[in-house]
Formats: sequence, C-alpha cells, structure tokens
Amino acid sequence: MRHRLTVPSAAAAFLLLAVPASAAEATPGAPGIGDSYYPDYGNGGYDVSHYDLRLTYQPPTDRLEGTATVVATATQDLSRFNLDFALEVREVLVGGKKAAFATSGDHELEITPAAPIDSGRPFTVVVRYRGTPSKVQVKGYTAWLRTPDGGVAANEPEAAWWWFPSNDHPLDKATYDVSVAVPDGTQAISNGTLQSTTSRLGWTRYSWRSNRPQATYLATLAVGKFDITTDTTANGLPVINAYSKDLGDNAGAARASVERTAEVADWLSGVFGPYPFNALGGYVPNVGTSYALETQTRPFYSPRQFANGSNVSVVVHELAHQWYGDSVSVKDWRDIWVNEGFARYAQWLWSEKEGEGTAQELADYVYAQHPAEDAFWTVEPGDPGPDNQFHAAVYDRGAIALQALRNEVGDEDFFAILKGWPTERRYGNGSVRDFEAYAEKVSGRPLGALFDTWLFTASKPSAPAARANGI
Ligand code: ARG
Ligand code: ZN
Repeated sequence: MRHRLTVPSAAAAFLLLAVPASAAEATPGAPGIGDSYYPDYGNGGYDVSHYDLRLTYQPPTDRLEGTATVVATATQDLSRFNLDFALEVREVLVGGKKAAFATSGDHELEITPAAPIDSGRPFTVVVRYRGTPSKVQVKGYTAWLRTPDGGVAANEPEAAWWWFPSNDHPLDKATYDVSVAVPDGTQAISNGTLQSTTSRLGWTRYSWRSNRPQATYLATLAVGKFDITTDTTANGLPVINAYSKDLGDNAGAARASVERTAEVADWLSGVFGPYPFNALGGYVPNVGTSYALETQTRPFYSPRQFANGSNVSVVVHELAHQWYGDSVSVKDWRDIWVNEGFARYAQWLWSEKEGEGTAQELADYVYAQHPAEDAFWTVEPGDPGPDNQFHAAVYDRGAIALQALRNEVGDEDFFAILKGWPTERRYGNGSVRDFEAYAEKVSGRPLGALFDTWLFTASKPSAPAARANGI
C-alpha cells in the first residue's frame, strides 16, 4: 500500500480495464524494490494492500502449511512478477487461474500468470505452501526461532521469507489477517486484535487482524504455550500480552515490565503524539536469543532481557518504535537511524523522567565512554552499511545526534519536531535526509553541518557544547 497523491479518473480506470496489455508490452516486475543495502529485497511492478494467511502449525515437527492470499495492484503491465519467499510452494493461482512458478536466487518466487496483468489493475495471488521453517537456511541462517513448544517469526530485516510470501520491504505496507490453527492447549500470537478463537477436531484456530499499514518484517507469529493477559487502555484500546509458560526465573520480571505497556504507551503519546495503532501488547516466548523487536502493536521480547529483574527501558524502546519505525518506516534500509536513534533517545527521556540521569548526562556519558580510537566512531549512523545496521553506534551515537539537535534548536522546537514527524508521515516512510529537512523546516535553522557531524562522519566529533535547555 503506497499513499498516492492522484487517483486515476473514472475514464482512465475504464481504459485500463478495457484495453488489455498486449503480451508484447508487458514486462517482468523487478526482482528488487531498489534498496541500496539489499537490492533483491522487495519487488517491482505491483503494490500489496492486504495479506490473508490461513495456516496450520505443528509444534512437535515445526511443520507450517497453508495458504496466503495476497491482494495487490499492478503498477506496470506485468508479464510476470516475484514474491520473496523461502518455503516450498505447491501451487500458485493468479486471479483464480493456475500460474506457472519457479524459484530463483535464495528467496525469490517468480510467478508467471496465464495472461499479463494490466497496470493499475487489482489482482489476487493465492500461494499454497508448506515447510519446516527452522530447516530452511537462506544465506546460512534461518530467522525462524524454534522453541521447545513451538516457533517464532521475529527478525529484522528479514523474517517473512520463512512464513509467508510477500513484497518484503518497508516501502510496501499492507494490512493483515493471520489465522493459525494449532493443537488444542497451544496458542498462536500475532499482531493487532484477536478476532476469534475457535476449536474443533483437536485444533484451535487463532484469527488475528492488523488493520493499519504494516511493513512485512513487523508481521509476527509465535506459536507455543502462553499465559495471555488482556486489558483495555484508558482510551479503550485492547491490550493483549503473552508470556511463555516456560520463562522460569524470568517470568516475574517479564510481567513486571511488559504489563506496563499501556502506561509506557500513554507516556510516549505525550512525547510523540497519539498512539498510531488500535491494539497494544507484547509477547515473551521461550527463545534463547537476546534481541527484542518492535513487531507492530505487539513487540517481541526475549526472556534474557529480564534476567536482571524488570526492564521497562526495553519496553520503552520497542514501544517508541511504534511511532519511529512502524508507523513511519525507513524508505531504504540505510535509513535505520530514523528507527534506532529515536528508540534509544526515548529510553534516555524515560530515564530523565524517572530521575535516573538526564538525556544530556547519558549523551555525555556515552561520548566519554568511547575514546577517539574506538571503532565505534567509524560507523556512520546515517549510513552504517548492511553489516552494521544494528551496531551500537546507530543507537548510541544516533541518540547523541538527537541530543545535539535538542541543544541546537532548543526544547520547544525539538519536542515539536519529535511530535510533528510521526504525525506528518503517519503510516508512511521517511529517510534520514527527509528528517533533516523536516527539522530545518520546523526550527528555521540550517542543520546540515550538525547532521553531517553526528550521522555522516567516520570519526569522533568534538563534544557538543552543552547548552541550557530551551534556548
Ligand atoms: N530493531 C530491533 C531493536 O532495536 C533490533 C533487531 C536486531 N535484529 C537482530 N536480528 N539482532 O529492538
Ligand atoms: Zn530498536
């Protein structure tokens, strides 16, 4: 789903439908959407508006099977097009008719419909598939996390390939219905609201709906044995949290943190503006990995984050991403600072509010922690490279950059920028340079030198003059 500024006139729409593209002029959609770090992620030639996934998962064998129905619109006359996917495909239908398909590269599914698809035309793709995601390696790894009682899809930037076919790039957001049947006694967790739970023949089907634009890597699925808590926020939004029954010693701290989701989201709304989605929550499966992920409306947390007791800071981080990352997403994966710099800065603001150190103090501390010869300073947060997307510099130097901006423009403009950007770009995308231009517009100051110093210089900048807040 891309926001368009123009709507074709009725006459143009009529022509598009009335004049079939001749096979001669229709061409294949590009195998990538044009990302500078990952040229083969996403695809060209169409735009997805909705994914409907109807799946069955068997925890003992890690067997996933089912059907994806992808609702899309052609953006060129298409002779064929790709979806990104790594599991075994059994059948593909386009517009209800069998389509030829082949795999290429390590995650490309090439689909050739029986007839070309005209530009502007809506079409549906049905993909029947199956696989054992933990056994499917791409580039030597699987993003699917196996647990003793199930499995979890939560990773960045790739996660979807192991559980549904997609146009796998944040530029093409869509809505989702995810319906997963699991053995009775097991739960399936996904994004958004739980529309229904039905049991029959030993299987329970969980049907989730995420009906705000959502990037593919922010779609999540977790199957396992969970304790589920439900609540509503003061504004009436549903809060659904899920905790693996097998968190051992970390169970109490996990709850003491994730149960504060509504409180943290309310506080963040004061900083970033209204919460952009219509459901909240978090889930903690019994994985052994250490990262968390801002899966839309329902972040993924690892039990290891709660090993030292409560960790509300990680909840602040993942919820901050709901504005910076999820509602407003990167245009290109090189823009990762627009996600991580802000989520880290939100943690610093939380610390400031809790009386555990101001953002200025934390910025000064991080700055002093890393001597000039530290490799930390060689990573440019504004363009860290694909191998350093999640390098500490993107987070910490990235947050220092925001403190430098705050000092430059003063608190009033700084907080107007933090709130204005997610409002102006809601459900869309933005680059580092777009944010820079926005900050210049709001503050009326040239900020090129500041952004270049903090985000685009591969050495330690001289310390920012610490200024009193609110110039
Ligand atoms: N966006 C995530 C976070 O900052 C980081 C994900 C890192 N991904 C990974 N596979 N380690 O919370
Ligand atoms: Zn993050």
